[in-house]
Amino acid sequence: MALPDGLEWDGETRQWLVRKRALAEVVLRDPHVGTLPANGVADTAHPDEVPSVSRFFNLWYLRGANHPELAPELRRVYNAGPLADFRPVLAELAAERRARLTGSGDLVEDFVAPYCLDGTFALMGFAEQDWASLTKVYHVLMFAVRSRFRGERELGERAEQAFASSLVFLRSALGRARDVPLMKVLRAPGALPWADVALVGQLLAAGVPQVRTGLAVACHALLGRPEVLEMVGRGEATVEQVAEEAMRIHPPFLTIYGWTTETCDCLGVRLEPGAAIVVDVRAVNNDPADVDGPESFCPARGRTTTFTFGKGAHYCLGATSARYQIAEALGALAADPLRIDAAAMRVTDDGFSQTVSGLPYTQHHGRT
Ligand code: HEM
Repeated sequence: MALPDGLEWDGETRQWLVRKRALAEVVLRDPHVGTLPANGVADTAHPDEVPSVSRFFNLWYLRGANHPELAPELRRVYNAGPLADFRPVLAELAAERRARLTGSGDLVEDFVAPYCLDGTFALMGFAEQDWASLTKVYHVLMFAVRSRFRGERELGERAEQAFASSLVFLRSALGRARDVPLMKVLRAPGALPWADVALVGQLLAAGVPQVRTGLAVACHALLGRPEVLEMVGRGEATVEQVAEEAMRIHPPFLTIYGWTTETCDCLGVRLEPGAAIVVDVRAVNNDPADVDGPESFCPARGRTTTFTFGKGAHYCLGATSARYQIAEALGALAADPLRIDAAAMRVTDDGFSQTVSGLPYTQHHGRT
């Protein structure tokens, strides 16, 4: 049987792969394709018990960002309106980080990574005194998340202990956080302390590595291509457009997952309930049938052409906050540019998301 253009069956992973933009539009807007397989089991642990790594992931699926009641509330919190108030805070954090850069170093380590964490903690309302410890919590959490996504179920006693202490600290920091819109959702009557700690962990994992990668590739595009910096300087392109185009070429998440919830023929082939469908974001973002000269860097392309943040029911919860974070950081760098070694950048897959390393910079005064 001939398959529709852009659809492939991967017999090894038993997944349908979508590599064409037109078909990706159909999949991600198809009401028969849900966002999660049903894999959360009832949480029977004592409410005071600090979650183990496996209970944490169960809570993630039970009361995470896809929870039927929580999801719409989170969408309201992560909307452009409430987030607009944070733009000046992000701009200040970016300008401070930019001012602290010394003569030379690595832009990912010295600017991108710490700014992404601080910006996220600020958006979530965490007290500034907790940011340094929360950075450690984040690294322990990401160790567990990456291990999990590599299929490792057991982490060992020491890692479990570090994980438990991190969750205890995260819970106490949530108690000290400011009453920002996200915290109001978490503090509403009926909130479940450990489930909400797991939810914040999920938001950190779903957001920080991706913003870090998105910002790193956007910095590379802005500072590594003199013509792009000049276009921004002349007002012919915005930093938002530069970021969008950089992430079209290097999407931080390479795949968008869906599972059929009922028998479906919408893709031109019969799919039974539970079939896994994976959209290849890089292939779709660079589909020559829909994107003119996909290999050329063109900030004027509209952001609607890309699948970097998903579409429809599979649209990223944090897309607006990510875009604000990245734009404010790029704004600070465009105002006071650095010289980077563009050829040194490496983009690798760490098993959970794409990760960027190697953006060596040197300071120079004034624009090139
Ligand atoms: C440049 C940064 C980001 C990119 C490129 C990105 C991309 C994506 C994509 C493609 C999806 C769909 C994945 C799928 O359905 O399989 C997604 C889902 C999601 N994103 Fe983002 N994202 C970014 C930042 C953020 C931030 C800052 C947050 C914080 C709130 C966030 C929270 C989420 C959540 C909660 C989901 C749903 C996850 C799930 O259902 O398991 N993302 N994101």
